[in-house]
Amino acid sequence: MRMRKNSYAIQGGSFGDEGKGRVVDELCFRLALKYKKLVVYRWNGGANAGHTVLVNGTKLALHQIPSGALIKGALAILGKGMVLHPGDLIEEITKIKNVTLANIPAKLVIDDMSVLTLDTHRAFEAVLKDWSEGGAGSTGRGIAPAYSDVLLRHPVRMRDLVRKNWKVLLTKHYDLYAALTNGLGEDISKRHVPNLRNEYSPVGGKNKFLQKLEAQRLVLIKYVERVDKLLKTLWYSKIPFVFEGAQAVGLDPRWGVYPDVTSSDTTFSGILHSTEGVVNPNEIEIRGAVYKATYMASVGKRKLPTKMNARLAEKIRKDADEYGTTTGRPRDIYHVDLPAYQFFVGVTGATHLVLTHLDISYDDSPIKVCTNYVDAQGKRVLYRPDQEYLSRIKPEYILIDAWDGKSVRGINSFTKLPGKTRNYVNYISEELKLKPWILTTGPERNSTIFI
Ligand code: IMP
Repeated sequence: MRMRKNSYAIQGGSFGDEGKGRVVDELCFRLALKYKKLVVYRWNGGANAGHTVLVNGTKLALHQIPSGALIKGALAILGKGMVLHPGDLIEEITKIKNVTLANIPAKLVIDDMSVLTLDTHRAFEAVLKDWSEGGAGSTGRGIAPAYSDVLLRHPVRMRDLVRKNWKVLLTKHYDLYAALTNGLGEDISKRHVPNLRNEYSPVGGKNKFLQKLEAQRLVLIKYVERVDKLLKTLWYSKIPFVFEGAQAVGLDPRWGVYPDVTSSDTTFSGILHSTEGVVNPNEIEIRGAVYKATYMASVGKRKLPTKMNARLAEKIRKDADEYGTTTGRPRDIYHVDLPAYQFFVGVTGATHLVLTHLDISYDDSPIKVCTNYVDAQGKRVLYRPDQEYLSRIKPEYILIDAWDGKSVRGINSFTKLPGKTRNYVNYISEELKLKPWILTTGPERNSTIFI
C-alpha cells in the first residue's frame, strides 16, 4: 500500500478528553510555517466534542470546527461522517472570527452529505433519557438520534437544508420527531434544549423551528458543497493533510463501555467511510493516538477498573482543569490502563504515540500504571468492551518513579526532559508498540515536543 506523504491523523486513544485538539492545533501551526496551504479534515461526531485551544492568551472552545482550522491558510473540511447543528456552527464560526480577528478558517467546506442534528434531536434525546436509562451519560447534543436517522434511512443532510424546497423535508422531520416525543408523553415544542453556551430554551412550534432554520441556511449555504471530487484532487496533491478525530476509541459504540459510548466511528477507519473511500486510513503516514501521560480521564457513568483514590484524583482535577468543555462536568480520574489502550490500538490501527500533560506529575507520588487485569480466579485477562465484565476484573499495577511536573513545564525538546520522564515515555511506547511522536508539557502552544 502506498503511503501518502505529509499526511497525519490524530485521535483520542482512551476514553476522551486526552488533549488532542491542542495537539492538532500545534501540528497544524508547525506545518503552516513550512507550507502555504493545509487541509484539516474532521470525520466524526458533532457538537458533543470540545477542544479547548489557547489563542493569543484567550481560551477558545471548539466543538464542530476542527482545531487545525485556526491556522492561517487552512482549508477545513467537515466530513460526511459528521452530524452538524447549524445554529451552533454559525455561533462557532462567529466566535472564531471575533477572537482571531481574521478570516479563519481561510476556507471552510461542509460536505453536503453530512447529517443534520437539530433541536428536535436534542429534545427527543432528552425525553428518551428521562424515559429510560440507556443514554444517561449523553452530552445532550442530539448525536445519537441524528446517527440513528441514517440507519433508519430518513436522515436530513446538509444538502437538504440548502435546497430550494428544503421546507418539505424539514417539515416532515419536525412532524416525525414531534410524534416520537409525543409517543413518550411530551410536547416537543415545550421541551427545553441547550445551545452552544449551554443555555436552555424551548424547541418551539413548527413555524418557529422552520423560521430559525431559514435564517441559518442562508448563512451556511456558501460553505456546503459536494466534497468527494475536491478531496480526491487534494489527496493526490502534495498539500499536507491533517485528519482530526472527535471523541476517542474508548467512546466508540463498538469498542467503548456501552452504553456510555457515542454513536460515530471514532477509529481511523471512520475516515474511509467519511471520505467515501477516497482516503484509506492505512495510507496515512502517521496515525497518532493521544493519551494523558500519567493518568486517564472519563466522563459519564462508566466505571473503569483503575479508579484513583479521591485525594490524588481531586489534586489532578484541579491542576489539570479536568472539567468537560462541552458540559462542564467534573471528569473521573483513573490510573493509566494499558490493557484497554492495547486493545484500542489494535482495533484502530494507530502507529504513533502522543502523550499530553507531562507536567501533571508529582515527585512524591509514583505513577501507577495498570499492566494487567486479573479475573476472580486470579487469571490474567484482557480488556473487553463490557461494563459487567470490567466491573468484575481487578487491575494489577506497577509503580513508576514520577518527576516534578513543574520542572518539565514548557520544555520543548526531548533531550531536555528529565531522564525519568524520557524513560517513562519510552516505556509506554514499548508497551503500546507505538512510535513516540508528540509530547506536551503545558497548555501553551509552544510547550510541545516533536520527536
Ligand atoms: P454523546 O456523544 O452525546 O451521545 O454521548 C455519549 C457518551 O460519549 C457519553 O458518555 C459522553 O459523556 C461521551 N462523550 C461524547 N463526547 C465526548 C468527548 O468529546 N469527550 C469525552 N466524552 C465524550
